[in-house]
Amino acid sequence: MRSSSKYEEQLSTFSKNSRVVLVTGGAGFIGSHTVLVLLEQGYQVVVLDNLSNGSYEALTRVEKLVGKRLSFVKGDVRDQSLVTSIINKYKISDVLHFAGLKAVAESTLNPLQYYSVNIEGSLALLQAMVENSVKRFIFSSSATVYGENAKIPYREDSSRGTPSSPYGKSKAAVEQILEDLAQADDSWQICCLRYFNPIGAHNSGLIGEDPEGVPNNLLPYISHVAAGRYSKLNIFGGDYKTPDGTCRRDYVHVMDLAEGHVAALQNLVAGFDVINLGTGVPVSVREMVAAYEAVCGKEIAFEIAPQRAGDLPEFWSDCAKAKQKLSWEAVRSLKEMVEDTWQWQTKNPLGYHNEE
Ligand SMILES: NC(=O)c1ccc[n+]([C@@H]2O[C@H](COP(=O)([O-])OP(=O)(O)OC[C@H]3O[C@@H](n4cnc5c(N)ncnc54)[C@H](O)[C@@H]3O)[C@@H](O)[C@H]2O)c1
Repeated sequence: MRSSSKYEEQLSTFSKNSRVVLVTGGAGFIGSHTVLVLLEQGYQVVVLDNLSNGSYEALTRVEKLVGKRLSFVKGDVRDQSLVTSIINKYKISDVLHFAGLKAVAESTLNPLQYYSVNIEGSLALLQAMVENSVKRFIFSSSATVYGENAKIPYREDSSRGTPSSPYGKSKAAVEQILEDLAQADDSWQICCLRYFNPIGAHNSGLIGEDPEGVPNNLLPYISHVAAGRYSKLNIFGGDYKTPDGTCRRDYVHVMDLAEGHVAALQNLVAGFDVINLGTGVPVSVREMVAAYEAVCGKEIAFEIAPQRAGDLPEFWSDCAKAKQKLSWEAVRSLKEMVEDTWQWQTKNPLGYHNEE
């Protein structure tokens, strides 16, 4: 644990009313951008992360960007006694739970690891919260919980489906656990945010997405091709029943998502709720490649590869509920998403490892 004397000092100078938010997985992609917005908004932040797919450097840069300190604890969210000690030490009032594993294909190869981190991790965290009567909780869920048969655009009032991967099943299971918890104890305030496809980076180019190993998601992969690290992009499936034959997804800027979390925190109410965070606009893989080429001024070589099992042709969000309940909507354009991704890539060709 980082020596926290300066942090303690700073805490004591803050208003007693200011809230202290525990952000699990805060050193990762979405978590680090959300920590930045939380600090900007005057929240105190404690990050718990085991750095399995996150970077301490991301948090150092967040502190520099905002000019404020946060507290960091390196550890596993499944360690209930550690979480209890953090809640007590920092007087945590709210929890944002990002920590988890997220690679769909990997989850089919290693389901136990996914269920352990994503479900046991959530259970340990919730148990520690119960012990300490902390009952404000925001969960990183995913559009994958709608399953294969939901009507497009996905609306929150359609029931959870059966996701095809262990990753998706773990998200649906945690949502169910949270729903049961709120049913059993009406003093809980729980919101599951169902993200669509987060991309982009902070417009400083200092923080962004830095996955370990070969990227699973489209944008980091395209970035690596544009930067010359990979020779070409494999587009999985060119014969879907979509306008140009490639899959369509609802890409949302990570800073919009981050702001969505703060809006959700500010509008948390008793009970259980689920809210989509997306743009409502589908973009195909080919359209994304063209948008990237326009921004980086290079050709992105690609090849059409066979479809991947479990990939849906297209889906996007209905965003009305977020607008109505959180007064939130995504405001950043596709061009900004791509420009910010490219800026992050060019300023940090090796991600955070440049300086580690
Ligand atoms: N990025 C997406 O496309 C997407 C879409 C929908 C939902 N989500 C969910 O949002 C959350 C954040 O996603 P992200 O893209 O920022 O992923 P990420 O991998 O960048 O961040 C997750 C963070 O959790 C940490 N972590 C993993 N296991 C941990 C453990 N056992 N204990 C403590 N920390 C642990 C990692 O080190 C990492 O910093 C995840 O729960 C993910 O499933 C992501």
